[in-house]
Amino acid sequence: MADKKLHIALLFGGNSSEHDVSKRSAHTVYDALDKDKYEVSVFMFTKDGFLLGNEDSMKIFNGAVEDEVVAEAIKDVDFSNPLANLQNLSEVKDVDLFYPVIHGNMGEDGTVQGLFRLLNKPYIGSGIASSGVSFDKDLTKQLLTLHGIRNTKYVVVTPETRADHPYEKCAAKLGETLFIKPARQGSSVGIHKVANKEEFEAALDDAFRYDYKVLIEETINSPREVECSVLGNREAKASKLGAVVVPEGDDFYDYNNKFVDASGVVFEIPVELPEDLTKEIQQMSLDAFRVLDNRGMARMDFLVDENNVPYFGEVNTLPGFTNISLYPQLWAVSGINYKALIDELIRLAIAEFDDNAKLHYDFQELGSEKLGTGLLTDEDKK
Ligand SMILES: Nc1ncnc2c1ncn2[C@@H]1O[C@H](COP(=O)(O)OP(=O)(O)O)[C@@H](O)[C@H]1O
Ligand SMILES: [Mg+2]
Repeated sequence: MADKKLHIALLFGGNSSEHDVSKRSAHTVYDALDKDKYEVSVFMFTKDGFLLGNEDSMKIFNGAVEDEVVAEAIKDVDFSNPLANLQNLSEVKDVDLFYPVIHGNMGEDGTVQGLFRLLNKPYIGSGIASSGVSFDKDLTKQLLTLHGIRNTKYVVVTPETRADHPYEKCAAKLGETLFIKPARQGSSVGIHKVANKEEFEAALDDAFRYDYKVLIEETINSPREVECSVLGNREAKASKLGAVVVPEGDDFYDYNNKFVDASGVVFEIPVELPEDLTKEIQQMSLDAFRVLDNRGMARMDFLVDENNVPYFGEVNTLPGFTNISLYPQLWAVSGINYKALIDELIRLAIAEFDDNAKLHYDFQELGSEKLGTGLLTDEDKK
């Protein structure tokens, strides 16, 4: 008898602005998964956080109108039950591995990773804390700065501290042109480039709609934004670099350029940069991956100024994964095609799970003299 196929649960959708991109990424991943090797179930989180079962999620892949499928699926659900949103999880009982293809909050911020931990199954990508830190632009920058990885200067404001950071004070410290951004968002939502007090106040008002923590950042005049894909676990490798060039006259890589009219945006894959700069960006990417404790994959985004000095921009732990997305395309030009990339991510997820299974969680087992030291000897690890 043939070996049992590895049963993969592909999760997609979610309540971020990238819901539709997630659908496209997941559909491409689904098509690329080798059905001779893998049994694949799909589960879509609706925008309200309800997990659709495999059959309904497949209907959406096959072109059914999402709102109609969702309305039908939830019409008899008893939402007074606290587990109602996850009731279809009963379908995942023989799943071997979870594959989240959910961008933004809920998928990239540690939320579903917590669910996978509770279910005690391997999953693709970074763990709970690593996802949470990587999704928070303030925490990410604090860790990078602590480890000497160059990134833009900034201050953080909350509604309570806003009055302590008026435009004049920020401009004197960080320059007249500033970027205002919510700490935990994506897709350039709530991000503004401002150059005077009025714009500054309006931008803060808007950014506070998305998060109570907002970054005020110095601006890097970047003719192009450079990306690097990283693949691995505690040991990882960096891809060739890519670049995004936004249309001349546009302020920055904003929501419109990303999702509304991307026609003027040029991707250079790979981008030819001076060798020193390429090496520096690849090294910064690997350093960030290690410092942020990322697993599986991450796309590292940089701003390179006119003097070819790279600044770490942000990390995406579950980057876009359509066949035209940067993450897989950068690996394709670096010698790993889309299907092989997915196989490798699956292998890494299982390796990570097996590795963690070797760790002791129960200190009793180790004897009371070790309590509190947290140090394991090789003998303990056996
Ligand atoms: N400090 C900055 N200097 C110049 N441009 C910036 C800066 N911060 C952000 N941008 C521009 O805004 C875009 C979105 O910002 P980013 O931090 O990547 O947030 P998101 O998670 O929404 O993609 C970037 O791709 C870049 O075009
Ligand atoms: Mg970005």
